[in-house]
Amino acid sequence: MDHFEYRDRALYCEDVPVADLAEQYGTPLYVYSEATLLHHLREIQTAFAPANPVVCYSVKANGNLSLCRLMGKHGAGYDVTSGGEFFRALKAGPQGSKIVFAGVGKTDAEIRYALEHGVFLFDIESEQELHAIGDIAHHMGRTAAVALRVNPDLPPKTHVKTDTSVKGVKFGLDIETVVDVARGVVGHPGLAVVGIHMHLGSPILKTEPYRQGGERAVKLVKAFRDLGHDIRYLNMGGGFGINYRRDEAKPAGAFAEVILPAVAETGCQLVLEPGRFIVGNAAVLLSRVVFTKSTGGKHYVIQDAAMNDLIRPTLYGSFHRVWPVRPAADVPERPDVDGNPDVPDPFRPMPNCFAQDVVGPVCESGDFLAKDRPLPALKRGDLLAVFSAGAYGMSMASNYNSRLRAAEVLVTGGTHRLIRRRETFKDLVACEEDCLL
Ligand code: LLP
Repeated sequence: MDHFEYRDRALYCEDVPVADLAEQYGTPLYVYSEATLLHHLREIQTAFAPANPVVCYSVKANGNLSLCRLMGKHGAGYDVTSGGEFFRALKAGPQGSKIVFAGVGKTDAEIRYALEHGVFLFDIESEQELHAIGDIAHHMGRTAAVALRVNPDLPPKTHVKTDTSVKGVKFGLDIETVVDVARGVVGHPGLAVVGIHMHLGSPILKTEPYRQGGERAVKLVKAFRDLGHDIRYLNMGGGFGINYRRDEAKPAGAFAEVILPAVAETGCQLVLEPGRFIVGNAAVLLSRVVFTKSTGGKHYVIQDAAMNDLIRPTLYGSFHRVWPVRPAADVPERPDVDGNPDVPDPFRPMPNCFAQDVVGPVCESGDFLAKDRPLPALKRGDLLAVFSAGAYGMSMASNYNSRLRAAEVLVTGGTHRLIRRRETFKDLVACEEDCLL
């Protein structure tokens, strides 16, 4: 479900023709729909309501301050993974008491910063970290509330680079030894072990891993309580998949169906850390065709967005729909895509289309947004929309090739506003100018 639709062969975001936005703000441009964003937040809040969940929006998916502020305004807390994200979360909204802090390498400075600002829970990723946080908190005269992150050791369930609950990844504590780790800090004056955390990976299209993870969590909650820890929170992380193709994703209710029974059995309050599910389908990346060319038997459309704007296709081979903003009358208004996530090349042949690679200006052969896509003939100046680009798009963007990062615009009904201005050449060198040789 999203609020991007074609009306009379022009793509709209809510009630705004996106071509107008490209005209006004330039390209490449991230265009967000507030309605889509809030729809997905509400979907999660409603589906999990029986467990009175603390929904902590995962800032890494998209840390734009205005978007984070919207999340806070509508009842979400934040899931952060660095001091920088913690800073964003604090700046975004008065939700200091609802910030969960995960990540395998929290520095002493980050730990202190989080404690000073009333972090809700640290998700603990190693035994050393647990003791370091306990000791720092104790020295500060505080008690750190922590949830031990366990790697439940489940079968592979998503891309190898983003699967966090298989054996052999750096995340969490081994399920075989986590109880011993918990035993080692019984009575620690700087620690309150109040939760179990797991994040299975991302994106996950099936509910079964959450059922299995939930079952394992129930056993751990019991074991921790037997040690005397007052376990009150069960944090099941994020990872819910979205529709990149057509309708392959599950609704929040399907995940709730398998997670809620486990939560009920423990009597814990549920914590969730969704990122992609909320923001993923809430944006398109708009780009403009610079040139087209045919070489080596292939057809290329070279547009002004690149791997520095959206690295997911290059990094994970991820699939994003790409389609003209104003498709001509002799091609389908929207692309025909196979919804089966197991089909490697889901685009179906379409009339008056031919296979093209959608590439950017970055000096790498790996710089592409789509490969061998049936697309209509395009010409200089045409606008393209790259769909489902809201999560891990802008947040993973870089200045590689000294490219200016894109601007971001938020659409609300018939209105729009800039929520991040386009960078300038001056921004590019700002951190170097003051210490120039
Ligand atoms: N909680 C923890 C501890 C995480 O590590 C993550 C994501 C989340 C929550 C949020 O997951 P989500 O609900 O957004 O799926 N760059 C990759 C995804 C990396 C995910 C990292 N961790 C991509 O573009 O697919």
